[in-house]
Amino acid sequence: PSRLVVTIDGPAGSGKTTVSKMLAHRLGYRYLDTGALYRAVAVAAQQGGVDPADGAALAQLCQGIDLDLQEGGDGLRVLLNGEDITGRLRAPAISLLASTISARPVVRRFLLTTQRSIGAQKGLVAEGRDMGTVVFPEAEAKFFLDADPHVRACRRYEELQAGGDGPSLDSVEEQMVQRDRNDTTRSVAPLKPAVDSLRIDATHLTPEQVIARMMTHIESKR
Ligand code: C5P
Repeated sequence: PSRLVVTIDGPAGSGKTTVSKMLAHRLGYRYLDTGALYRAVAVAAQQGGVDPADGAALAQLCQGIDLDLQEGGDGLRVLLNGEDITGRLRAPAISLLASTISARPVVRRFLLTTQRSIGAQKGLVAEGRDMGTVVFPEAEAKFFLDADPHVRACRRYEELQAGGDGPSLDSVEEQMVQRDRNDTTRSVAPLKPAVDSLRIDATHLTPEQVIARMMTHIESKR
């Protein structure tokens, strides 16, 4: 069967990452986590003390950034100017900063090039917010994964707990709602389902069930 570009967009905590990784593995495709790229730029901004409201400073920051994704034994590693920053990407402060800077056109332009060059080779599962709408509009199979906000917050909370003493469920939910609001209301590449996407509500589905639906759709496209 021919190799496709598969896009998975959706809000925070909808299960995109779990499902995208499993699907890429099942298909023998590469996996592209574009949230990690926005998070990496956020880490760079934090390190450089860059004000996210300062467009010129952000532009300068992007010019000095070299991002590299490497497939490691334990998943994707993100290198920022040669330094492995993977362990810092999931901190709640970075989630929020990523969401803030991702509304800036200069940051989106910078990452668009990176994402398209990674996606030039087919056989890809790309997850994010604007994969089906902006970055890979020609993708053959597009999904929009959603779930009830409370269920999404609980999942994210459990993930953060697993990594040590994390924030409270209330603060996780509050931050998630704020991030979703930023991501859906920004003027450039807002989070929304592509018109030709298949929408899946994962509130009552296991990752396996989500993947089964996706595989049926993908099979019909190749
Ligand atoms: O997917 P993840 O939660 O890791 O993404 C972090 C943030 O990066 C999102 O809240 C969003 O603001 C931004 N993002 C984006 N476009 C993408 C992927 C992520 O704006 N394609």
